[in-house]
Amino acid sequence: MVPLKRRKLVSSAATGRTGTDSNDKAPTKFPLVVLFLLERKMGASRRAFLSQLGRQKGFQVEESFSESITHVVSENNSGDEVQSWIDSQVKGQRRTSAHLLDVSWYTESMRAGLPVQILDRHKLQQVDAAEVAVFSVPSFACQRRTTLENHNAVLTDALSLLAENAELSDEEGRGVAFRRAAAVLKALPEPVTDTTQLRGLPCLGAHSLRVIKEILENGESSEVESTKQSERFKALKVLTGIFGVGVKTADRWIRDGILDLQQLQDSQQTLNRAQQAGLEHYEDLNQPVSRPEADSIASIVEEAVRSVLPGAQVSLIGGFRRGKQTGHDVDFLITHPEEGREVGLMPRVVAWLESQGFLLYQKTSRNSYLESKDGPARPSSNMDRFERCLSIFKLSEEQQHTENTAEPSQVKDEELDQNKSWRAVRVDLVVSPISQFAFALLGWTGSKLFERELRRWAGHEKSMSLSSHALYDNKQGKYLRATSEEEIFAHLGLEFIPPSERNA
Ligand code: UTP
Ligand code: MG
Repeated sequence: MVPLKRRKLVSSAATGRTGTDSNDKAPTKFPLVVLFLLERKMGASRRAFLSQLGRQKGFQVEESFSESITHVVSENNSGDEVQSWIDSQVKGQRRTSAHLLDVSWYTESMRAGLPVQILDRHKLQQVDAAEVAVFSVPSFACQRRTTLENHNAVLTDALSLLAENAELSDEEGRGVAFRRAAAVLKALPEPVTDTTQLRGLPCLGAHSLRVIKEILENGESSEVESTKQSERFKALKVLTGIFGVGVKTADRWIRDGILDLQQLQDSQQTLNRAQQAGLEHYEDLNQPVSRPEADSIASIVEEAVRSVLPGAQVSLIGGFRRGKQTGHDVDFLITHPEEGREVGLMPRVVAWLESQGFLLYQKTSRNSYLESKDGPARPSSNMDRFERCLSIFKLSEEQQHTENTAEPSQVKDEELDQNKSWRAVRVDLVVSPISQFAFALLGWTGSKLFERELRRWAGHEKSMSLSSHALYDNKQGKYLRATSEEEIFAHLGLEFIPPSERNA
């Protein structure tokens, strides 16, 4: 037996009547209501049946969509699906103001013999397209411009904490995955409000997406919260917060039951010179270095360099070059425009600083880079072999006041309370020959992830090896020289990204 719906359709077909035949319908009873039934998912025959029913009841039901439609009725479609169907029909025209309704509104209206009031349950749920931007970003962080303006700090802080936890657990791969995911979110022009916006974005693995989704839905991630509370994580943070203490040492201490600074001091552990200095200046070194403090230290380093080798140049590198307002240390790159003049410079700079009482600690490593030896075989490693001085500066109140124009910081108030007129600051000095200067400048400006991605890009996409010393083209079998960062980006086939946009 033919079902009722079909029989009606068949009968209308048999009499030559079709849904499009508007001459044949009853006069419109409701001139303000112009209906359109979407065939998508409803099917052609059910649509024809429902349309005809509507016309018989005095409704104006149109066959095709146009601007005059006031009510769009559909079955089993979401508001977004209906909207995108409409958008595909009216390309370039302004958005329809028609009601997007579920078929239940239509059947209830048929039953009532008039258009029933539109209730919330009749309306198709739609996410406002103006609010939900769908983002697109290139895969490699070195192809993106990442400023310090982060619209997704809540999400990136959470992912960075998980990255830190992975790194502290010696799980580098997992750490990098979280860092890459955080870097993608840092590059977005707007806050993410819904996970649907993340479709098609690179570097967002299942784990990162899970964390993001949970935060968007609940305001926080259970994994992040439990990590923060974990005794092991807290102990690793405190112990690796000591200058000179790495993950392996901290891990060994934790296994020996040492979880905090007091327990370390009470223990019989032997500390090396760096760790002793790190413990002694723990509070200071864990206070962020401010921009005015970095500028004060820059003046001191410039004076030292000028005094021992006129003509030598000092560049502020690291996070402060990228425009950061605070840092965990201050990094400088020193060179001389004449190749070879930089040889022997570091010990003299260090001696000058020591003679002026600026150093609380220093350890200098000699330059061990030799192109012929270290050359293309290893330059993709991020370990570089410049002459380098890891130091702790003693920055006095006086120097801070002469250089600072900013308001006194909380740190200084605390120091005054303790009657201490100086603070300890971590400073890194690096010396490079002028022939490697552009590579050193690029390699030491960071961020760490940006550097990692540059090296990955060079290897994967260009078959080149990039280090802070050189760029080697594996296909051509030769070094590519450069005297500026711009030239290195050009060699790598990348658009130049200025330091302030390397905050990946
Ligand atoms: P930092 O660790 O100082 O980071 O390294 P940062 O970006 O300045 O951030 P904060 O504010 O101090 O925490 C600066 C750059 O030096 C490179 C890193 O890759 C980073 O890009 N670097 C650091 C090296 O190339 N080799 C090293 O041994 C250390
Ligand atoms: Mg730094």
